[in-house]
Amino acid sequence: MRFKAMTAFAGALAISAVGAANAEPVDDELVINEDVEIVTKTDAPEHMEYIDEVMSGWLFREDDTRDMQRDDFDNPGMLGVEAAMETWDEVDGTAGKACSDCHGTIDEAQLAGARAVYPKWNENAGEVWTIETAMNACRTERMGAEAWDYNGSDMINMSALMSYLSRGMPMNVAIDGPAAETWEKGKEIYYTRYGQLELACANCHEDHYGDMIRADHLSQGQSNGFPAYRLKDAKLVGLHNRFKGCIRDTRAEPFAIGSPEFVALELYVASRGNGLSVEGPSVRN
Ligand code: HEC
Ligand code: HEC
Repeated sequence: MRFKAMTAFAGALAISAVGAANAEPVDDELVINEDVEIVTKTDAPEHMEYIDEVMSGWLFREDDTRDMQRDDFDNPGMLGVEAAMETWDEVDGTAGKACSDCHGTIDEAQLAGARAVYPKWNENAGEVWTIETAMNACRTERMGAEAWDYNGSDMINMSALMSYLSRGMPMNVAIDGPAAETWEKGKEIYYTRYGQLELACANCHEDHYGDMIRADHLSQGQSNGFPAYRLKDAKLVGLHNRFKGCIRDTRAEPFAIGSPEFVALELYVASRGNGLSVEGPSVRN
């Protein structure tokens, strides 16, 4: 725990009327289906200034929530993956094509590894794209289909399928070259204090991970488990939706889902988890 943000955090605690208690993340290992080994803890990437070890949010959850992720039959997020597997083969749009017509069957797993390197610079567009942007580009430019709602269930389910195809691979987003500017912008957002509570992402997820806030065990706010099945919402939740909830908790007006600000923030947050395994769809409370 670090103390530089104690004052702002004390404000947050006063409002939620709970005391701060520190609870260590569990010492546990995640192997999915007794097969896929997940790195939930590793050395922090070099660019991290204040954290030596990065940890998956999985380590901060209760036993029963963690257990749901050990076997796909117990993971309700897999229903979204299965729905996307059907969509994968469905023709849509004026070009008369399905995803599988160009990308092959799911089993061929041509897109294995894609999730681990997104968000990523797209040369033609001249900007950083999330995997959601890439999928919508396929729909509008290659299929002649309508773009999916960024936060809609078609998109979130397909995003979960993309995570599933890369599951167990280390997150490895590039932060140099043409992506550097966007990464810097994301970093700035991460350290900016928002809202009446004047809290930055870093105040909670860097200075206070391990502490309890309300009934929640604060994690490092890593993105490697997304989309995440949230038990509270009983559905798969996309990363930008999670960002939105966190910003709203500081009583600030959040950026829009899919906005350039959230794309930049996603790149920065993903880079803080470089080395952790892609774990989505994860289960969280
Ligand atoms: C008409 C052919 C076509 C169809 C149909 C199509 N795609 Fe693509 N897709 C491509 C091409 C070409 C690329 C670019 C590959 C590259 O530049 O590496 C691409 C890129 C992608 C990427 C980024 C991959 C990466 O490694 O950067 C994702 C993710 C993706 N498509 C998902 C989908 C999904 C989901 C669908 C169905 C909704 C779909 N695509 C439909 C041709 C297609
Ligand atoms: C007031 C404290 C607070 C602030 C500020 C905050 N969060 Fe969170 N965040 C939480 C809590 C509580 C959770 C749920 C428990 C956990 O995983 O930490 C959470 C969860 C997350 C998760 C999900 C992690 C997982 O593994 O499921 C991500 C990602 C995240 N936050 C990112 C952010 C980002 C980015 C910002 C800044 C825009 C931010 N948070 C600001 C409190 C905060």
